[in-house]
Amino acid sequence: MNHIMSIRNDPTKVYVETYGCQMNVADSELVGGILTRSGYTFTENLADAGVLLVNTCAIRENAEQRIYGRLGLLNSHRKHNPDLVIGILGCMAERLRSRLVDEERLVDLVVGPDEYRKLPVLIENALAGEKGIAVRLSRVEAYDDIVPLRTDGVSAWMSVMRGCDKFCTFCVVPFTRGRERSRPLRSIVEEATVLAGQGYRELTLLGQNVNSYRDGERDFADLMRSVAAVDSTMRIRFTTSHPQDMSDRLIDVIGATPNICKYVHLPVQSGSDRILRLMNRTYTVDHYRRLVEKLRLAVPGVSLSTDIISGFPTETVEDHERTRALMSEMRFDGAYTFKYSPRENTRAYAMPDDIPDEEKGRRVSEITTLQHAIAQEINAGMIGRTEIVLVEGRSKKSEADLTGRTDSNKTVVFPGDGSARGEFVTVRIERVNSATLFGSSIRGGDA
Ligand code: 5AD
Ligand code: SF4
Repeated sequence: MNHIMSIRNDPTKVYVETYGCQMNVADSELVGGILTRSGYTFTENLADAGVLLVNTCAIRENAEQRIYGRLGLLNSHRKHNPDLVIGILGCMAERLRSRLVDEERLVDLVVGPDEYRKLPVLIENALAGEKGIAVRLSRVEAYDDIVPLRTDGVSAWMSVMRGCDKFCTFCVVPFTRGRERSRPLRSIVEEATVLAGQGYRELTLLGQNVNSYRDGERDFADLMRSVAAVDSTMRIRFTTSHPQDMSDRLIDVIGATPNICKYVHLPVQSGSDRILRLMNRTYTVDHYRRLVEKLRLAVPGVSLSTDIISGFPTETVEDHERTRALMSEMRFDGAYTFKYSPRENTRAYAMPDDIPDEEKGRRVSEITTLQHAIAQEINAGMIGRTEIVLVEGRSKKSEADLTGRTDSNKTVVFPGDGSARGEFVTVRIERVNSATLFGSSIRGGDA
């Protein structure tokens, strides 16, 4: 081996880095499937790779800034390895297109979410020195025939629909991911069957707005019922939901199907009707409230999480207080809170971004503090209870502990050894904080 001479990394070895939502994680697995089919292999070690791909997120400005920083760093590897191919995939690729190649000169390839089939050819061209841009959006591409390259073995993401037609006024997704389109129900069920056979214990059905799934007459409730019937011991989850499309039928299916997890992520975004209208969210606080009531009635003990944006244009302190009041009323198990970030092309981009960054930060931190207190109380109520935990692996913080999740999607940490990965373990909850439950496993016999 002569390391000093090795100035050209193996051009068939690919390193992928993924930012953003679960959809991107699933898309990186699709890219893995596409490139494997063409003879590429993957490495977790960036220094071994001849091709570096970054799957990017454009949802907020700070996500993009972070990725820019990272691209700069990846570029410095060209010094030792001038043949390196660097490609940018995903939402930032779609949003910035040729700017990334022409103005920034950071990358050789820019490939949007609907053009991944072209990657093998584009990489080959890039290795020959030709830069490539492929950013057309499609009305039909769902990558239905591509087998994603999965490595987890326990929990799998399955993309069932792509794109979004909702056009919330703050959101860039309809522009970066295009129109809604669904995969055929039959092929999703076939994929779930294969995954069950491979030993997967949990499947999460993914889509930007998964509840508007459609295959002819069949809707998302039908899809969930069919996937859950594949293997009654496999946990089925889904994300993410728009309140407008959360049908009564879907609520009934969640309530009636034991292996569909009792957890719903239901972004509310704001507790003010005026702001919801400006956001084009198509529901009022009262609709949302009644929806949650219905859910809690049909699915007792259902765990709920939400997304909230602070500092949307014209948001007053009263609007913000309405959001806090709604949170106290709904008592979410979890909430993701974001400072409003103006995105080009969206309708809100034309509105004045009139809440100072500091004030956005203040509102976000008030919301986070309130949410922590609520989650702490909810979790404290679980002390002494037993929960079935699907073990995902060792805890990052302690070698002697395992980590996994409950049906309600709460993280549980408890002592145990790594051989339990992929098993359902009964755990008695002993102490909690606002984010994690801690306990010990109950072995058969001494329960
Ligand atoms: N600014 C801040 N947050 C945003 N989100 C989407 N677009 C923006 C934006 N421009 C948030 C929403 C959405 C979540 C995924 O990201 O809350 O539900
Ligand atoms: Fe964006 Fe709204 Fe579509 Fe969600 S539903 S992806 S927030 S436009």
